[in-house]
Amino acid sequence: MITIMGATGATGGALLRRLIELGVPCRAISRTPDELRAAIGGEAPVEVVGADAADPRALRAAFDGSTQLFLAMANSPRQVALEINAIDAAAACGVRHVVKLSAPAVEPDSPVGVSRGHWRVETHLATTGMAATLLRPYAFMQKLLLNAPAVAEGVLIAAMRDVPCNYIDVRDIADVAAETLLRPGLDGVTYELTGPRAFSCPELAHLLGELTGRPVRHIDLPPDDFRGHLVRTARLPDWLANHVVEIQQLAIARPESPNGTVETVLGRPARTLDAFLREHLALFAPVT
Ligand SMILES: NC(=O)c1ccc[n+]([C@@H]2O[C@H](COP(=O)([O-])OP(=O)(O)OC[C@H]3O[C@@H](n4cnc5c(N)ncnc54)[C@H](OP(=O)(O)O)[C@@H]3O)[C@@H](O)[C@H]2O)c1
Repeated sequence: MITIMGATGATGGALLRRLIELGVPCRAISRTPDELRAAIGGEAPVEVVGADAADPRALRAAFDGSTQLFLAMANSPRQVALEINAIDAAAACGVRHVVKLSAPAVEPDSPVGVSRGHWRVETHLATTGMAATLLRPYAFMQKLLLNAPAVAEGVLIAAMRDVPCNYIDVRDIADVAAETLLRPGLDGVTYELTGPRAFSCPELAHLLGELTGRPVRHIDLPPDDFRGHLVRTARLPDWLANHVVEIQQLAIARPESPNGTVETVLGRPARTLDAFLREHLALFAPVT
């Protein structure tokens, strides 16, 4: 049995839809199982189970009978503790293989705090004896939609200067996850995942302008000003605003370039940013 932790999230949700499409029975975990059940509908071969990762007993009940776990956890100050709870419960339940959603720059002294957290989780996972597949994707295309209200007003605000960024569609991450869960021989590997082409903010603003038919101006702020903008205007909590700034400064310190891992694993090219933005163009339209 494949169990998905984070099944209501961006990547776990995409994996759940992929497994349903393939007709693979699976179990989906959420703290709000009734909502997830309603979203899936009755036909799919999915067992929905309620559990909070803060509750080790609930996790063990949720993982009972599972052989593989996909683990995606929302970023939060509690993320490391919650993921370690899930890993320990999986090991106690006899799970053999964990596919963990991680991030770039996973190192003990990474300049990105969230990546230092992923390093602690990955290091813990390595001690359990379970096979560990680590997915380290770059920035999710889906998160670009958070910029839609500003783009609708004609601006794209960031602190990344003109460095390239490896945006990836979470559906490609999910498709790779599905392959590692279903195809023997792909487990136990670390996959660095990118889209097919890296885009700088000026290039992204230009592309958005072309697609929407309205000019989009790229505004580059100093990191501290951008952090203030995220807290005051976008209303992000301090820890999340810090994370966004750290990720953008990482792209400056370590210029990103795409690799062919998605295509190698899936046997087809990674989804493009152009196609993703076209799918969601309506969200970038000004409110009338
Ligand atoms: N955003 C990016 O550009 C990016 C890039 C690279 C890597 N990443 C990594 O991707 C991960 C986030 O993935 P995502 O964006 O797909 O996730 P997401 O949409 O933020 O959702 C993650 C899931 O976390 C679950 N969750 C949160 N607290 C929980 C708890 N106490 N107990 C059980 N479940 C809990 C939620 O489930 P319920 O609410 O249903 O319980 C939700 O389904 C992070 O580790 C991040 O570092 C992100």
